[in-house]
Amino acid sequence: MRVLAIETSCDETSVAVVEDGYRVLSNITRSQVTHSKFGGVVPEIASREHTRYILPVTLAALEQAQISLNDIDGISATYGPGLIGALLVGLVFGKTLAQVLSKPFLGVNHLEGHLFSVFLHAPEVLTPILFLLVSGGHTELIWMEDLFQYRILGSTLDDACGEAFDKGAKLLGLPYPGGPAIDRLAQKGDPQFHQFPRARVPGLNFSFSGIKTALLYFLRDRSESWVQQHLSDIAASYQEALLDMLLHKLRQAIEAVEARRVAIVGGVSRNTRLRKRLQEEFTDVEILMPPLTYCTDNAAMIGAAALAHFQAGHTSPLTLGADPSASLSSL
Ligand code: KG4
Ligand code: ZN
Repeated sequence: MRVLAIETSCDETSVAVVEDGYRVLSNITRSQVTHSKFGGVVPEIASREHTRYILPVTLAALEQAQISLNDIDGISATYGPGLIGALLVGLVFGKTLAQVLSKPFLGVNHLEGHLFSVFLHAPEVLTPILFLLVSGGHTELIWMEDLFQYRILGSTLDDACGEAFDKGAKLLGLPYPGGPAIDRLAQKGDPQFHQFPRARVPGLNFSFSGIKTALLYFLRDRSESWVQQHLSDIAASYQEALLDMLLHKLRQAIEAVEARRVAIVGGVSRNTRLRKRLQEEFTDVEILMPPLTYCTDNAAMIGAAALAHFQAGHTSPLTLGADPSASLSSL
């Protein structure tokens, strides 16, 4: 089976062709750089950019896969969570294609897409598996006991981890998106330079709003030239505090469900230091991480989730609407 997948939930217009074995025949992603001058994604601009690029990106994905629309067996698109206007562009485009071509359609939950990113180019979905999903909008510990069976063990009570990277970077005067900028700078800095507070939250939940305020006060009390002189040390210390909080809860979750296999997915899973610490500190479990291109938003991961659903006989009605706050639910 061969699936055309469309992802437009935020600021990436992405289209992919994925076939059996979760093999990616093409994955074209156009990131909207125009938001960087505003220091964050502007929803209206995101929607307009998607309408401009959805067709050329789709044609490029078909060309890269060296197939035509007739060679596609099913169409899928992200229906949520995400920005409503942005979601609608990809969803309506996908449903229209499905109707015109008389092909089955499937709406994919963006979070489930992130989970499936780790199975791309793998022969099968490995369960049970504990996921740490860390993106710009979500920070969740998810126990996938069996195919399509999800238990949310914990999530953030306020900001997402990626959001803390982005907001911290903004305070440090770094460009948007802040995660990659902090990652790069921190590689030259001392993670023990300053101890930012690590939030203590009950259960397996997270909190990332306090540390952002701590950074704000830390910077306010120091001169501009001193901050510039120690920028890489501050970035490394801030990043270390975020990672300590993530990895502390991950360890607790592993013990709670006695996980043997753990996958880290979502944009923050690109982080160099996070990847290094996972390899060094979690040698007692099998650690899976998607290749870097499939960590941040992309359509290949949506195609992988869609493929699994299609193969299980699932389809969505063409009346399916966009759901900006869709949560991950088990089937
Ligand atoms: O998964 P994603 O592309 O979009 C959402 O679904 O939210 O994640 C984007 C987030 C942004 O907050 C970005 O700053 C963060 O992932 N990110 C990183 C890195 N690359 C992207 N955070 C830390 N280190 C990175 N190298
Ligand atoms: Zn995402």
